[in-house]
Amino acid sequence: MNDNEKLTIAVVGGTGTLGRGVAGTLRSRGHQVRVLSRRSQEYPVDLTTGEGLDGAPAGCDVVVDASNSTSSKGAARTLVEGSRRLLAAEEAAGVRHHVCVSIVGCERVPFGYYRAKVAQERVVEAGPVDWTLVRATQFHELVAWGFRSMARFGVLVLPRMLLRPMASAELAVAVAGAAEGPALRGRVEVAGPETADVRDLARQWRSVTGSRARMVPSALPGAVGRAVRSGALTLDRPDVTGTTTFADWLEQRKHRG
Ligand SMILES: NC(=O)c1ccc[n+]([C@@H]2O[C@H](COP(=O)([O-])OP(=O)(O)OC[C@H]3O[C@@H](n4cnc5c(N)ncnc54)[C@H](OP(=O)(O)O)[C@@H]3O)[C@@H](O)[C@H]2O)c1
Repeated sequence: MNDNEKLTIAVVGGTGTLGRGVAGTLRSRGHQVRVLSRRSQEYPVDLTTGEGLDGAPAGCDVVVDASNSTSSKGAARTLVEGSRRLLAAEEAAGVRHHVCVSIVGCERVPFGYYRAKVAQERVVEAGPVDWTLVRATQFHELVAWGFRSMARFGVLVLPRMLLRPMASAELAVAVAGAAEGPALRGRVEVAGPETADVRDLARQWRSVTGSRARMVPSALPGAVGRAVRSGALTLDRPDVTGTTTFADWLEQRKHRG
């Protein structure tokens, strides 16, 4: 693909946190974008049942899969079985590049949702369409949502956990770039600018939001706890490094109201 080629690109999950940014970035670069999801007006599809999938990728050069489902059972059905269904529809439509979004270190954390992400990656790697995997670290949005949810109960229950969180908007730009580029049959790893313990992130969150939620140290047991404490969800040398720290992101959100 040359630099100025305009593509037709389907963004599955284009109504979600990441997908909205991917669709917006690609549109701003002049590509034709098609949003596929259950709530999509133009292309309602359900990956768990296959409803609406037949023909949905017809005429697309590239499909970006930014769908998600976070329960273990939902992830197996939506991400793993859903990827099989999606790739079959892409093969029938002659799509030439499938971009799958995944998670840095998912194979190192033996937790149901991460196992489903590993299985999704395997389906993509063995699938009928040339592919690129874009692995990312946790979004600032997710970290802040976690703190907000706990703070409703007046406490922040915090195990030790190393994270290198990033702004989903910066990942959206990297994913859009991957969709414009050739299928790598390999991974691109994207992470935020700094690694921090989740307790330090919680202190930053409290200071910017003014929350009085009490910080309560806790410990995640077993192999999952050991993995996240030792930085299994982080990496030293990402291919792409975002510039927005969690503190920057919180300040930006505060000023936007
Ligand atoms: N959140 C993070 O911190 C993080 C970090 C690293 C990587 N990732 C990866 O980034 C990707 C996107 O995550 P996200 O946080 O942006 O997800 P999200 O905000 O929960 O959005 C999920 C999207 O998937 C669609 N969807 C859900 N079930 C579907 C189904 N059965 N059929 C079709 N579409 C369905 C939803 O739209 P409808 O409701 O309209 O169907 C929505 O557009 C995932 O692969 C995730 O593993 C996330």
